[in-house]
Amino acid sequence: MCGIVGYTGSKEAAPILMEGLETLAYRGYDSAGVAVWDGEKIEMKKEKGQLANLKSILEREPVHGTSGIGHTRWATHGEPSYINSHPHGDTKKQLVLVHNGIIENYLKLKNMLVEKGCVFVSDTDTEVVAQLIGDLYRGDPLTAISDAMRLLEGSFALAILFRDDPYRIYCVCKDSPMVVGYGRDGAHIASDIPAMLAYTRDVTFMGDKQIAVLSPEGIAFYNEFAAPIDKGSTHIDWDLDAAKKGSYEHFMMKEICEEPVAFRKTAEQYVNFRRGCLKADCFPWADSDAEDVKRIRIIGCGTAYHAGLLGKKYFSELARIPVEADIASEFRYADYEFEPGEILFIISQSGETADSIAAMRMAKQAGVRTIAVCNVIGSTIAREADDVLFTYAGPEIAVAATKSYLTQAAVLFLAALRLGEIRGRVAPDRVSAFLTELAEIPARMQKLIDEREAIQFFSSREFSAKHVFFIGRGIDNALSMEAALKLKEVSYIHSEAYAAGELKHGTIALIEEGTLVVGLITQKHLAAKTASNLEEVRVRGAKVLAVTNGEMPDIADHCQKVWTIPETGELLAPFCAIIPMQLFAYYMAVQKGCSVDKPRNLAKSVTVE
Ligand code: G6P
Repeated sequence: MCGIVGYTGSKEAAPILMEGLETLAYRGYDSAGVAVWDGEKIEMKKEKGQLANLKSILEREPVHGTSGIGHTRWATHGEPSYINSHPHGDTKKQLVLVHNGIIENYLKLKNMLVEKGCVFVSDTDTEVVAQLIGDLYRGDPLTAISDAMRLLEGSFALAILFRDDPYRIYCVCKDSPMVVGYGRDGAHIASDIPAMLAYTRDVTFMGDKQIAVLSPEGIAFYNEFAAPIDKGSTHIDWDLDAAKKGSYEHFMMKEICEEPVAFRKTAEQYVNFRRGCLKADCFPWADSDAEDVKRIRIIGCGTAYHAGLLGKKYFSELARIPVEADIASEFRYADYEFEPGEILFIISQSGETADSIAAMRMAKQAGVRTIAVCNVIGSTIAREADDVLFTYAGPEIAVAATKSYLTQAAVLFLAALRLGEIRGRVAPDRVSAFLTELAEIPARMQKLIDEREAIQFFSSREFSAKHVFFIGRGIDNALSMEAALKLKEVSYIHSEAYAAGELKHGTIALIEEGTLVVGLITQKHLAAKTASNLEEVRVRGAKVLAVTNGEMPDIADHCQKVWTIPETGELLAPFCAIIPMQLFAYYMAVQKGCSVDKPRNLAKSVTVE
């Protein structure tokens, strides 16, 4: 969602702010703005729409100065417009600020501030924060921020520039992410790590209700009562190029092409391939406590939830444990009573998704053990979960998650395998057979990526489709859900996943001449069943594409087109089968001329409810 950057140091601030905003653009936004101290006053420029609009304003009317803040806004309160774009200031013009999050009690505060004489110009909840801090300001920024924090309800990450103290940038967070770091030429703030990598790899993650004061000389930290605190930093070893598009036209394609490496890197963290065994100390279970695990619940949002659905299959099949997977935004309000021995898995690429954080905290409060599967070291979920199984996907920039899904599913598979191994539900020779095959998966993925032209060709003929259905059974049903999400989010084509056997209980009424139906058939023991379902739609006029696990001659009669993945064991097949589905979504979107990396209305990191 919104992106925040800030800089104070020895260089011109505006280009640094713009570069940071461009790096954060993937988070999703609909307007942008910057504020820079020009030596006499705070100069503000903002504009609706793409960053290019703001850039051309800055080219025509440059702002010079060495400290400033910037923002990309994803509208929540108030439509995307010039007036509602950040930064916002107070009536007395003492400060400007940028905000990520939602202020829940903004109306109450606004009424109070209007009565005190504040004049509001926008419809945003953010302006309430600027006016509130302005109202409380008596010459000491820290005290004003600390006092305001006590009155604000909701979530916020704020970067604030005070007219009386213009070479310092104040930032404060609650339930919204922010990182700060000190580089060669000054101090930086950003909503996310990629915007920091060009300046420093040692970043500090802001904790809840902590304040950071950035100056050209360094960064000081304070608690909510404005008392100094010490905070360490985390070293980020992501490759700088990993957050750049390089020769690829889109990040989404680059990230699909990185999947074999991301998969291998992740697997190598948990598997000793040379010895053919799982690395026991990388999993959060000792032999003695594995039997205490009575039930597993997996939560996540979007693609992470879909990886959780695969996890559900893995834990029930390999560890023989009752498992449920839930959407975090539903689960957090479900009034669910955890059972003794229950574990909550939280799946999140960013580690900052608001609903997943809330569900995790709910479980922690109930005394339930939490295990995160997360891609970002130092993120809120990675910090707060009892244990973390990291994915090693590197930075994922395209809004549509690809390599994160694959690596999350890989980690869940390995965690389930380990639990099954120590609970004696998976025999040692079956564990080694899985690991042997797992080592071959990256090469199979690579083959699918190398042969992607066939998918491009198919997409070039089908991109005018209005509706696409993805059907499958068991694991293929879980996979279908991710395939349908990928297609709809990047190509805007209405797509739905349906359990193949459930189609005829209603949804088959939607099938008409030419409707595209994609049948996923990686589970050989269910192939004949899904084939019958494909036949049901084919005879009703559907155009049928089947994705099969190795050659399946019997399937060809039921469809117009078959894509085959290299033959792979049923539990491991999703790692290969998802690749053609991601490529299909990508090419359909490209054919339609969609904004592949930043689809309309979507945000990469959903930090509000
Ligand atoms: C957003 C993104 C999705 C992502 C979901 C969960 O909706 O657009 O790609 O799957 O958030 O994000 P997380 O960072 O928690 O995995």
